[in-house]
Amino acid sequence: MDSRPLYEKPALVSPLKLLGGISPRNFMREYWQKRPLLVRQAIAPDQFHVAAQDLFALAAREEVESRLIARAAGKRAKPGAGWTLSHGPFANEDLPGARKNGWTLLVQGVNLHLAQADNLLRQFSFIPDARLDDLMISYATDQGGVGPHFDSYDVFLIQTQGRRRWRVSAQCDLRLVEDAPLKILSDFKPCEEWLLEPGDMLYLPPHYAHDGVAEGECMTCSVGFRAPSHAEIAAEFLAELGEGLHADKSFARLYADPGQEAVSTPARLPEGLVKSATEQLKKITWSETQVERFLGRMLSEPKPRVFFDPPQRPLSESKFEKAALRRGLRLHARSIALYGKHDFHLNGEALAGTPSKVQRALLNTLADARCWDPADAKKVFADPALAELAYDWYADGWLELG
Ligand code: SIN
Ligand code: CO
Repeated sequence: MDSRPLYEKPALVSPLKLLGGISPRNFMREYWQKRPLLVRQAIAPDQFHVAAQDLFALAAREEVESRLIARAAGKRAKPGAGWTLSHGPFANEDLPGARKNGWTLLVQGVNLHLAQADNLLRQFSFIPDARLDDLMISYATDQGGVGPHFDSYDVFLIQTQGRRRWRVSAQCDLRLVEDAPLKILSDFKPCEEWLLEPGDMLYLPPHYAHDGVAEGECMTCSVGFRAPSHAEIAAEFLAELGEGLHADKSFARLYADPGQEAVSTPARLPEGLVKSATEQLKKITWSETQVERFLGRMLSEPKPRVFFDPPQRPLSESKFEKAALRRGLRLHARSIALYGKHDFHLNGEALAGTPSKVQRALLNTLADARCWDPADAKKVFADPALAELAYDWYADGWLELG
């Protein structure tokens, strides 16, 4: 990472340029998950610049998720026809070339690799990190796009280079073309359209139909916010809860059937077994604290292809402390920190033991601000337990010198 994160705690009731002069509080009340918002000049066009070659270099990496989408020029009349989708990594020669029209390269998780992408994504810190997914960049040549579709996520589409024409629709008909290699709406009926110029931004709530087509070569950043489904939460939570039951004495007892009568239908499930299992299952309960702890772990878990780069020649503990007191510390862009009323989670790991009030305040600052300034670091190194944690996280590549 080449530059310091520019974390600025947003003033929730002050107008924000990023939101077209709307305050974060009003944005959340009026638009978030409700309706689209177009913001002209949300960011200064020179605030973000990724060269196409740098994006192509990311798409060539094994651990970076990328997709190439194209549409045959002669097949544009019929929805869903002529689309092709392939998955990366892509060598430079796998890409069609800037002179060929109608293709798009999508690169996910750019914030994990480029500091300026992480900085852009952190400008949305008025939205809980638990909902944050990633910053994707799409590069397109003239007429490139991914077709009319909807996403399940909230998304901020920021035009960073060139122009893209967005057409959107509040339609309820979200049927998709069958057998197309990507999600294409079978009957897209746009009701509004805008041409986005560099610096402009369009927010779209989930399930809002949209289609963005490049007018000339262009680049668009999508800051996406995921929401886990209830089924996903329930399945993972119950699986974890199930693991814990093996250690629970009251569940260790075996089913007993001293009253079982002789049977002539041996394949039939005994009624007593079904009743007893139902009763036992009804005894399983959980608290909000357990649910909060589970969510902290689940949502702070980095994605499967995310790896950290521990420092190759780590400083000794004393040199690390000296440097941290001078420069402060910051979370690596790939680190995910979340906290609840009781727990602190970093990258899917909960802190062992219960932190004291002072420790919690410092840990929560690290999670919210994503850094400890030198004054915070002084308090951290005055506490041997926190100092040890800080050093371990540094050695793992989760925390770095500011
Ligand atoms: C794109 O940037 O080309 C697609 C983003 C989207 O429609 O969600
Ligand atoms: Co979309």
